[in-house]
Amino acid sequence: MLEAYLPRKTEFEILPMQTDDCSRVAALHGERFSRPWGDGEFHSLLTQPYVFGFVARQMNGLFKLPLAGFVLTRAVADEGEILTVVVHTKAARAGLGWRLMLAAMREVHARGGESLFLEVDDTNQAALGLYRKLGFAKVGERPAYYTDKNGVRTTALVMKRDLR
Ligand SMILES: CC(C)(COP(=O)(O)OP(=O)(O)OC[C@H]1O[C@@H](n2cnc3c(N)ncnc32)[C@H](O)[C@@H]1OP(=O)(O)O)[C@@H](O)C(=O)NCCC(=O)NCCS
Repeated sequence: MLEAYLPRKTEFEILPMQTDDCSRVAALHGERFSRPWGDGEFHSLLTQPYVFGFVARQMNGLFKLPLAGFVLTRAVADEGEILTVVVHTKAARAGLGWRLMLAAMREVHARGGESLFLEVDDTNQAALGLYRKLGFAKVGERPAYYTDKNGVRTTALVMKRDLR
């Protein structure tokens, strides 16, 4: 009886992304990136045959986030690519980035993917930490590839994870 009043650990579930999710996905992307993609862009990506995604939804708690996180992925033949992965700042460091990436990696593998690629800004310590922990390693770099909100150019690292 008393347990009902005690705060429970916030739990999240990982589900396949549906086209209905696109407006919440675009809103969360816009909160975390200075160059947001519109919900139309997410919708047209997600309706392409080789593109899929996963969303993280909060299952309990007093104040529910509209969307806790998502990953969008492309898998063609034996290669996959992470298009973007985002976690809400209020759900940061709770293992959601990890769980979303694992869901994407498993699905790429299930579709016949043997390797998974991504691009990341070399100043993005959170993403680099996540990708390295998942076994991604640098295979290339593109100098001055991104421009931040202050106009500063930064390098994109190309990373790869073998899925075999
Ligand atoms: C990158 C991002 C998805 C990580 O999501 P997250 O749910 O907070 O990450 P997790 O809790 O799953 O962390 C997994 C590991 O990633 C690394 N990591 C996560 N956040 C980190 C941070 N702020 N600094 C350093 N390493 C970090 C750690 O190795 C962590 O493992 P640990 O907690 O056991 O140390 C999230 O910070 C984010 O959405 N950033 C903005 C969008 C973005 O940059 N996306 C990636 C580029 S497309």
